[in-house]
Amino acid sequence: MTAGPGAIEDGFASVNGYRLYWRSVGRPTSKAAVVVLHGGPGATHDYLAPFADLAGDGYRVVFYDQLGCGRSELARTVQEYTVERDVDDLEKLRAELGLDTFHLIGSSYGGLLALAYALAHPGPLRTLVSASGLADVPLTVREMQRLKRELPPPLPEVLERHEAKGEYQDSEYLSAVMEFYRRHLCRMPQWPAEVSYTLDHMSLPKYGTMNGPNEFTITGTIRDYDLTPRLGEIRVPTLVTTGRYDEVTPAVAESIHRGIAGSRLVRFEESSHLAFWEERTRYLATVREFLAAHPGPTRPA
Ligand code: ALA
Repeated sequence: MTAGPGAIEDGFASVNGYRLYWRSVGRPTSKAAVVVLHGGPGATHDYLAPFADLAGDGYRVVFYDQLGCGRSELARTVQEYTVERDVDDLEKLRAELGLDTFHLIGSSYGGLLALAYALAHPGPLRTLVSASGLADVPLTVREMQRLKRELPPPLPEVLERHEAKGEYQDSEYLSAVMEFYRRHLCRMPQWPAEVSYTLDHMSLPKYGTMNGPNEFTITGTIRDYDLTPRLGEIRVPTLVTTGRYDEVTPAVAESIHRGIAGSRLVRFEESSHLAFWEERTRYLATVREFLAAHPGPTRPA
């Protein structure tokens, strides 16, 4: 059977007692595979579709739904939804898929997960891309609160009023949340179907446990998480990307860039949190160039 660069495979891997859904695009070649991590925590891999374009450059691009997300199984208890578990699941999935060395791209919470993976398992990593990722959740929360205060009136007041009463499902509140998302999550007038799919299929058990009621209200278990003091230990070539209007603001990206010696920071001026959709051509060109600059194996032969 011959398969072109667009060859698609998918399946379920048994990881730490649960079935995790994975999907890959492109044939294995001499180039290291690219693994792409979704955010949320609790999203699905679907909104990461633009990264499949890298298959056209000879990379096998692997996506998966993290524990409790998308087509993967729910955990039996919400206590299992932790960063450490997501790191360990990635390491086990990597071994299961036979990826000795790979490039890791993490979007948003996936960026935090990628940094945590790099600290725990640097060996197999060829490069790291933090795509609007975060290391310091308290800083991210402070910045999101600032963006919220800077929304046009009456939005800040509407959000505050409902939040004070815990009315996170109120229709007026949800409309105001959507105004925030249109400015700071995805600025495209029409959201891609894959983005809407992911938002409509957010894992409430995982998102509610780890993140909180919405993107800018991070009250879940990751609220105090901060990897900044350990970023200096990361030696993997790293690309940090952010959008000018990003809900995970440029200040957050700069904190990662400062922490990782030799990292490269690229800001997308027409984008918010999903620059790989909002400025897809330029974004993918930036990632392609970065991956091509680091083609060899990480580990000595
Ligand atoms: N909720 C943010 C994300 O999308 C942090 O991962």
